[in-house]
Amino acid sequence: MGSSLITLFRDRPIVPVIVIDSAAAAGPLADALIEGGLPCAEVTLRTPAALEALRVLAGRPDLLVGAGSVLSAGQARRAIAAGARFIVSPGFSEDVVACCRDHGVPALPGVATATEIMRALAAGVEVVKLFPAAQLGGPPGVRALIAPFPGLRVVPTGGVGPANLATYLAEPAVLAVGGSWMVDQGLIGAGRFAEIVGSCRAAVSAAAEVRP
Ligand code: 3PG
Repeated sequence: MGSSLITLFRDRPIVPVIVIDSAAAAGPLADALIEGGLPCAEVTLRTPAALEALRVLAGRPDLLVGAGSVLSAGQARRAIAAGARFIVSPGFSEDVVACCRDHGVPALPGVATATEIMRALAAGVEVVKLFPAAQLGGPPGVRALIAPFPGLRVVPTGGVGPANLATYLAEPAVLAVGGSWMVDQGLIGAGRFAEIVGSCRAAVSAAAEVRP
């Protein structure tokens, strides 16, 4: 079995969620993430370039790279073959979780209800993504949803940004948060990597206030 999510994200409380339109941007993006102090990436499989970009990013030993928006076991297999070290889904799929287990790669399935959390736990999942976190009520909604699950660790994603990052990270159950705000698709497409470095640095220092 590979590393657990709790180990992978112990010192990485922010997971940049990336939508990338060209694999050519992957190299400069890797540099920006490292320079910005956020050496981690969830590459969403939403664009034709995503798998190739994932391969390029995963080739950088100083980055922790996973795949996001994984909807099927086939996609999970391809992402793992491209170097993904964790697999994120918007919802809970037994097939995706089983495929990840077979490959020894941790799965981070999305859940939005207590029933989905129970199904994920029954499938042996140790951490869930709470998605879309803003629509679940933000930090108070997240707190209420997970109250019946002591020991559960969660990764709220969806609508996380500078205004609420610290509030999420102040929750002990929150292992990390996911978000695209510091790696905006338009900035990547326009090659505005200096701005990405700046947003990453701002996110890192905001997180350090709550989790020194
Ligand atoms: C995801 O794919 O997990 C979300 O789209 C990220 O949400 P955000 O764009 O609101 O950060």
